[in-house]
Amino acid sequence: MYIPEDILQAVKEAASIRQVVNEFVPLKKRGRNWVGLCPFHPDKDPSFSVNEDKQIFYCFGCGEGGNAIKFLMKIQGMSFVEAVRALASRYGISIPERPLSPVQRKKLELKDELIHVNETAADFFSASLDSSRDAQRARSYLEERGMNSSIIKAFRLGWAPDRWDGLVNHLKEKGIKISLAETAGLVLQRKGGSGHYDRFRGRIMFPIRDWQGSTVAFGARILPGDAEKDQPKYINSPETPVYNKSRVLYGLYQNKSAIRKAGFGVVVEGYMDLLALAQAGVNNAAATLGTALTADHVKFLKRVSRDWVVVFDGDAAGQRAAARALPFFYSAGLNVRVLSLPEEDDPDTFIRREGRDNWEKVISQLPTGLDFIIDRGLELHGRDTEGKIKTVEDALALIEPVEDAVKKSLFAARVAQKTGVREESLWERLSGRPGNTTSRNKRQKQSEKKLQDRSVSKPPNLNSAEAKLLGFLLAHPVYMEEFCDYGVDLWLEHEAMRNLWDAMVNVFSQTSRLELSTLAAALDTMPEIKSLAMKLSCAFPPGENPEHLSHGFKQYCSQRKKKALRLHVLESLKTESENTDASDLLKKFQQLL
Ligand code: UTP
Ligand code: MN
Repeated sequence: MYIPEDILQAVKEAASIRQVVNEFVPLKKRGRNWVGLCPFHPDKDPSFSVNEDKQIFYCFGCGEGGNAIKFLMKIQGMSFVEAVRALASRYGISIPERPLSPVQRKKLELKDELIHVNETAADFFSASLDSSRDAQRARSYLEERGMNSSIIKAFRLGWAPDRWDGLVNHLKEKGIKISLAETAGLVLQRKGGSGHYDRFRGRIMFPIRDWQGSTVAFGARILPGDAEKDQPKYINSPETPVYNKSRVLYGLYQNKSAIRKAGFGVVVEGYMDLLALAQAGVNNAAATLGTALTADHVKFLKRVSRDWVVVFDGDAAGQRAAARALPFFYSAGLNVRVLSLPEEDDPDTFIRREGRDNWEKVISQLPTGLDFIIDRGLELHGRDTEGKIKTVEDALALIEPVEDAVKKSLFAARVAQKTGVREESLWERLSGRPGNTTSRNKRQKQSEKKLQDRSVSKPPNLNSAEAKLLGFLLAHPVYMEEFCDYGVDLWLEHEAMRNLWDAMVNVFSQTSRLELSTLAAALDTMPEIKSLAMKLSCAFPPGENPEHLSHGFKQYCSQRKKKALRLHVLESLKTESENTDASDLLKKFQQLL
């Protein structure tokens, strides 16, 4: 779906961030802002703030921030287009639809019909579990496994009666075409004869919902006594036009908001694992249903949270599965930790034996995916040279696709630390070397940095002149252009300020503007800097004449620049060596005159 630029602009202008947020988060006025409890992380004091002038939200607790579109995307798990459409319809802006081709229309209609058949079947199975005569065994089994009625209801568990035509007859009564039920994978054609029979018989039914909550498929578990019939323990709907098993995670729809609230989610394997966790009050899980995790799965996970825990069996197969799943998280820019359970356990048996407290304790002490891979590598391949080489290969493969330069560099440092390989050597193998500059530039930067690195660890002082300057430019971005020439990066003392300045210059040079929401997005991976930006932009007092202010700041800037250059020239003269660039020095001299 394509949204024309002018419509997008109109939506942005019409949407009121306060109205939109207020539908999810009660807001109270505080000063110039509106504040409330952050919906994106566990929040006790209101750290979530909405600024109407700038039409943005920002959380000082977790660093989440952006405009109304971003807010809807986060809180509803919508795609960009979905969020824009939702806002357009709320504010009465019509988006011109490109007409569907007859083939596209047919496809959409078929999908709707298949979902309707599945919903009808889910109702039938659910009613059967309540009242069908042969369901008593199923009810006792669920009870035995600790499932209470609220879980049964929330996940709409059901029972497929143990007969060949239970569902077939029900669907006929409801006037549903049997060919549709066949396409939905609920019934099968009799071999040789005419007519259809139920695919699911004598099994507990688990409706599988897609991202939007539509029932797209079923899982079905046999009862223990019946396993002797040599049937698989679980059977599932086949792939259909509405069900692609590598794109759907069981329970994700129901657990979305709990995952957001917890700040992280847990990926497990089975239906009963997810349900047992829910039964114990752990609602931040999603299940892959025995299939290998795919890049598509991870795309959906990413819509809900950036932080995930993957749970695997402690045996060799489980470890292999973990090792295969981790790269998808890393290339999607997500953070992931690994929980390897004791061999005899799955999450279901673990939580029922250990309880929620122990579960949470274990979860809070997990190794990162990278540490898991390195530790497992050293264990598997050995700690000798050969073993380390293989382990480093595995670790590099994991972090190579990481796009975020800061993360990648921290990962490389970690690999170096854990394997004893020099970080420099690792970078010979990784793309996107840090400090992507010529070596002369790099040395120069380093020596400049030495001059500035006096207060790296202290928090930035929000009353300092440099804080005021950045706050001023955030509040009056029209002056950005002029200040880009004042060598500000030469003398900003605090590292956080320098990082913020770099980001401001980047955003400004790329978009010719300095919108706070764009800046916030650019700083997504640096929450402290994002938070600093928001604090500075909110702190700057309105009302003073910006021309006067800018004049004052410029004078201040040129003094600071001169001083920094003087120091730099002196330093370079003192430590003169083959590294010193004479023409560069000369240039700096000239600027001092
Ligand atoms: P498990 O064999 O670990 O089952 O399969 P489980 O989840 O612990 O189930 P319970 O506790 O015995 O009831 C994990 C997942 O693999 C899929 C199912 O999605 C199951 O939840 N599976 C398993 C199948 O699709 N078919 C099977 O025959 C077995
Ligand atoms: Mn189990």
